Amino acid sequence: VEERFRETYRPQYHFTPPTMWMNDPNGLIYHNGTYHLFYQHYPEDIVWGPMHWGHATSKDLVSWEHKPIALYPDELGLIFSGSAVMDTNNTSGLGTKDNPPMVAIFTYHLMEGEKAGRKDFQTQGIAYSLDEGETWKKYSGNPVIGNEGNIKDFRDPKVMWHDDTQKWVMSLVAGDHAKFYSSPNLKDWTLMSEFGKNIGAHGGVWECPDLFPLEVEGSDETKWVLIISINPGAPNGGSGTQYFIGDFDGTTFTTNQKEIKWLDYGTDNYAGVTFNGLPDTERTFIGWMSNWNYARDTPTEAWRSAMTLSRKLTLHKNKTNGFYLKNYPITSLDEYAYATVVHDTMKSGMSLSSKNYNEQRLDFKIPGKLDDFKLSFTNVNKESLKFGYDSSTKNYYLDRRKSGVVSFEQSFGDKVHTAPAILDSPTDVAYSIVMDASSIEIFIDGGSTVFTDQIFPTTPFTALTLTSENTTIVNLKVSKIKRIWK
Ligand code: FRU
Repeated sequence: VEERFRETYRPQYHFTPPTMWMNDPNGLIYHNGTYHLFYQHYPEDIVWGPMHWGHATSKDLVSWEHKPIALYPDELGLIFSGSAVMDTNNTSGLGTKDNPPMVAIFTYHLMEGEKAGRKDFQTQGIAYSLDEGETWKKYSGNPVIGNEGNIKDFRDPKVMWHDDTQKWVMSLVAGDHAKFYSSPNLKDWTLMSEFGKNIGAHGGVWECPDLFPLEVEGSDETKWVLIISINPGAPNGGSGTQYFIGDFDGTTFTTNQKEIKWLDYGTDNYAGVTFNGLPDTERTFIGWMSNWNYARDTPTEAWRSAMTLSRKLTLHKNKTNGFYLKNYPITSLDEYAYATVVHDTMKSGMSLSSKNYNEQRLDFKIPGKLDDFKLSFTNVNKESLKFGYDSSTKNYYLDRRKSGVVSFEQSFGDKVHTAPAILDSPTDVAYSIVMDASSIEIFIDGGSTVFTDQIFPTTPFTALTLTSENTTIVNLKVSKIKRIWK
């Protein structure tokens, strides 16, 4: 393995770019047995700069192969976030019936326009590949959606094929709301409707929309989910992901939802979207594991930032929560687990040691009623990472304030992250904790409450201690996870 893949904080089973800066996942698509991940990439520095689309492929959504850069900036601008579709019927005419094109739909960001004080510097463009995403050509008629309305934030097209009405549907964001467009051919787009001006969280600009149908588990009711990233304004600060559950009739998205719903209560799951090309029952999500508050400042050298684990999204409904999404690691991650040790019970005051918790996954249950507990990961340098439940506030919490290097940016380590207990039922709750070199992902109750946080311990965590009054952990499975960089 190359040196740079062994850098202290380089995740060993999360996607990272080979070198330099990365932000949002783009163009997530599954085709012909291969998953494609494109991503916002600046290949010349470890801070944000002129955006390209990097590219990687995978057979199982865990291991990735790095590919050459797919899209470079051109005279219409930098290549901001967007999506990819397989134009199977060659509606665009950019390929042939026998060799239909893979089409990328993205935002052009024209720096010169922005610098000159214009407001129309973001437009939408397309590009196509006739060789399974290996090489790309920009469409000569770009932009396909101009910006006649002078909308300052006008970006992040997510396109899907809407079968009922036999047309392409695009979700796009415009500052404080989403816009939906339709097209017969991916080139000519018509504005259909808008959503969101007076609903949901508005602490910052709306980004990276994603609209898709999902069946409610245990029923045959299908609802539509609209995911919206927002920056700033997330529950624990900075960038975060909210979602709406409603209906989409091919033209308009509507919802009865009153409350704000968050996909993740950690501060490091942003700009996440789902794959095109998979069956609706396999809705799979990847987010960018960082936060614009401190993304540029994290203590890495050869590269910067990682993606979240690939997660399956499922939709649920109960009396307490109404509709709610769960997001949970895809099952192919199970195949990377090895050297599993099982502890039947772990009582309060007990400590377990391990060579390195930062390459392990922990799965366990807490039987009985949800009650106070605290799990502390510690290391030889007296750094600590604490996760628990506080019945006085009815919140779960994740405390990384003393988890290692935190001083690179003030907001990284200034407070405890909290989450309300969104659960199927407040008894016999299951927990999964996945820790890599510089991240922790906590899935409570199969992912109804989730924390995704970056961490930078100066040496791996080696001890785990439970503190509680009434609760005991049972069936604790501790597994190592195989490294993906060969
Ligand atoms: C989200 C975002 C997108 C934009 C991209 C630019 O993190 O701000 O809205 O397209 O990053 O890199």
